[in-house]
Amino acid sequence: MATCLRFLFSDLLVLFLLSLTASLSSPQPLCHQDESLALMQFKDSFIIHNDTFSSCFPKAASWSVEAEHGRSDCCSSWDGVECDPHTAHVIGLDLSDSCLYGSINSNSSLFRLSHLRSLNLAFNDFNYSKIPSTIGNLSWLTSLNLSYSHVSGEVPYEISYLSKLSALDLSHNNHNLHIGSLTRLQGSLPIPPPSINTYLVRNNSFTGEVSPLFCNLSSLSVLDLSFNNLSGQLHPCFCNLSQTLKALGLQSNNISGTIPDAWAKGCSLRQIDLSHNQFQGLLPRSLANCKELGHLDVGYNKIHDTFPSWLETLTELKVFILRSNGFYGAIRDIQINCTFSNLHIIDLSDNNFSGDLPGECFQRWNAMKLFGANESQYMDYDIRFSFTLPLTLTKGIKLEYERIQHELKVIDLSCNRFEGEIPEVVGNLKGLHILNFSDNALSGHIPSSLANLTDLEILDLSQNKLFGEIPPQLSQLTFLAFFEVFNNCLTGPIPLGNQFETFPNSSFDGNPGLCGRPLSKACGDSLPIPDPTFEENQDSVSSFEFGWKVVVIGFGCGFVIGIVIGQWVIARKQDWFVNAFRIKK
Ligand SMILES: *[C@@H]1O[C@H](CO)[C@@H](O)[C@H](O)[C@H]1NC(C)=O
Ligand SMILES: *[C@@H]1O[C@H](CO)[C@@H](O)[C@H](O)[C@H]1NC(C)=O
Ligand SMILES: *[C@@H]1O[C@H](CO)[C@@H](O)[C@H](O)[C@H]1NC(C)=O
Ligand SMILES: *[C@@H]1O[C@H](CO)[C@@H](O)[C@H](O)[C@H]1NC(C)=O
Ligand SMILES: *[C@@H]1O[C@H](CO)[C@@H](O)[C@H](O)[C@H]1NC(C)=O
Ligand SMILES: *[C@@H]1O[C@H](CO)[C@@H](O)[C@H](O)[C@H]1NC(C)=O
Ligand SMILES: *[C@@H]1O[C@H](CO)[C@@H](O)[C@H](O)[C@H]1NC(C)=O
Ligand SMILES: *[C@@H]1O[C@H](CO)[C@@H](O)[C@H](O)[C@H]1NC(C)=O
Ligand SMILES: *[C@@H]1O[C@H](CO)[C@@H](O)[C@H](O)[C@H]1NC(C)=O
Repeated sequence: MATCLRFLFSDLLVLFLLSLTASLSSPQPLCHQDESLALMQFKDSFIIHNDTFSSCFPKAASWSVEAEHGRSDCCSSWDGVECDPHTAHVIGLDLSDSCLYGSINSNSSLFRLSHLRSLNLAFNDFNYSKIPSTIGNLSWLTSLNLSYSHVSGEVPYEISYLSKLSALDLSHNNHNLHIGSLTRLQGSLPIPPPSINTYLVRNNSFTGEVSPLFCNLSSLSVLDLSFNNLSGQLHPCFCNLSQTLKALGLQSNNISGTIPDAWAKGCSLRQIDLSHNQFQGLLPRSLANCKELGHLDVGYNKIHDTFPSWLETLTELKVFILRSNGFYGAIRDIQINCTFSNLHIIDLSDNNFSGDLPGECFQRWNAMKLFGANESQYMDYDIRFSFTLPLTLTKGIKLEYERIQHELKVIDLSCNRFEGEIPEVVGNLKGLHILNFSDNALSGHIPSSLANLTDLEILDLSQNKLFGEIPPQLSQLTFLAFFEVFNNCLTGPIPLGNQFETFPNSSFDGNPGLCGRPLSKACGDSLPIPDPTFEENQDSVSSFEFGWKVVVIGFGCGFVIGIVIGQWVIARKQDWFVNAFRIKK
């Protein structure tokens, strides 16, 4: 009986202990021993450096197979390891930014983790080893991330055997530290399997053309090939991807030929960055089928076309960059509505646009009119994919930023051949931060309506043919950091107060008629400033006489400019300059 009781007791004890263990530990089965061994061997094949200067965190350092540390189960207690809750096979390994240093060999125990679905080894230092071809053994892999991981050489063809691979990130393995190319990912672009959705190989040294095999990747959504050495042409079959592709990044390569022009209705592209290549010909008209397009950058190419007014129907278009191409002609002449209702950034700089500034367009760019609280209604466009947008915005500073800030609003029409007056309506675009009309042939006055642009940080009107006074109201622009009007024909006193106390005198160079701080020339000894409100009949002015007279008056803008202004005045006889001339005469 006593024995019986003792057995019963011990049975109960065992049951009790079992249920206690079950309630304390997670219900999932324990990690497979061969897999925890493979993980330990993988960890031990690296030096885990833990210097205080690096931001990395040594996730694997705490891994241990010793039971007394309570860390023996790789599924429940190893940082960075994820197991299938039912089978306990290791299906995920995230050792990104984990201070690993050393080479990966083709016989690395990593490749024995044959159930792996997700592998992230980004931000480690694999000592410029090649990606081993045994990567092809991980046939369940859906996601592979080796960005910023110091791998080099050619990517093994076996990558294309990973028939479930959906995301591949090999970005930023382009190091210059060691002698020309052993420290880079190079060769031709690895061809991913048809299952691929996200393919990122940005900033490497891949060469050759983008294979037409890419056209068959019918699940492809994000293709970021920027900053490589790719060349050749983009095959027209690329447009076959238009139903699935959301982001196409080819920035900073050497790709030539025309941009494919068969983007079908229902094209789902949201972001296109083809900047810094050798693309030529026309901008493809079929891009108008990409109704969700929010970001179009074709800057720094050789595109020869007129202003793409046919894109105005794209109600999502927010960032529109045509900088440094061969775009030409007048924008105003094109019979369009010029809606572009969501436009935040338009950069037409360094082209051959001519004619008057498109005042009617300025009137319709509604998103640029909003600032502060009013803006929220236009915030619904979501930039899903990270792109770097380099804009040469500020003087000598190349402003680069991941993800365009929602609120940044820019009009850059610099370095073209725009002429005529600056339309008053620019003053309605109250949300603007940057306005650059530099290096054109603009004449007339600086409109005082610019003082309404209270968020303005950069105003560059330099290298034009503007005359008259700088409107004193501009001193109300308290965010203005850059104000450039050098090389114009401006006259009279420089406004006082606020930001105007901070601009260097170089901002005002080349306007001999200007006076006052920060210039050394005081205002007392300058010519009388003509009164713009003075009215007089000026019908009898002849163009030559007038142009000559401007030079004689000696505002110092040169004979050529004088003649140009003279002709301009003949065309618009209401201008005060005529009155000024009359007064002098
Ligand atoms: C790094 O690579 C070099 C050259 O292949 C090799 O000599 C060195 O042992 C490697 N270092 C480590 C820690 O693997
Ligand atoms: C890769 O798979 C092959 C056969 O499927 C096997 O022979 C080889 O040992 C595996 N390699 C590694 C490193 O696990
Ligand atoms: C992997 O192969 C190298 C030679 O290529 C060998 O020195 C090393 O011992 C092998 N490692 C394992 C874990 O088999
Ligand atoms: C790759 O990993 C890094 C670091 O964890 C991450 O920032 C990046 O977004 C990952 N790439 C993809 C395609 O998920
Ligand atoms: C390319 O990658 C290298 C190494 O990660 C980095 O130093 C460099 O800034 C990157 N360049 C660009 C344009 O992203
Ligand atoms: C693309 O796929 C189609 C059908 O899936 C196939 O017939 C064709 O050969 C493929 N093209 C290439 C270049 O692989
Ligand atoms: C692209 O689509 C066209 C028809 O839509 C088809 O004829 C062509 O084979 C496709 N190209 C590829 C490479 O899939
Ligand atoms: C305006 O544009 C010109 C030409 O693109 C550029 O050189 C200048 O730096 C820009 N002005 C400012 C203040 O950024
Ligand atoms: C610009 O300012 C410097 C001193 O800051 C002065 O020496 C120079 O004469 C000024 N130049 C002009 C054109 O006023």
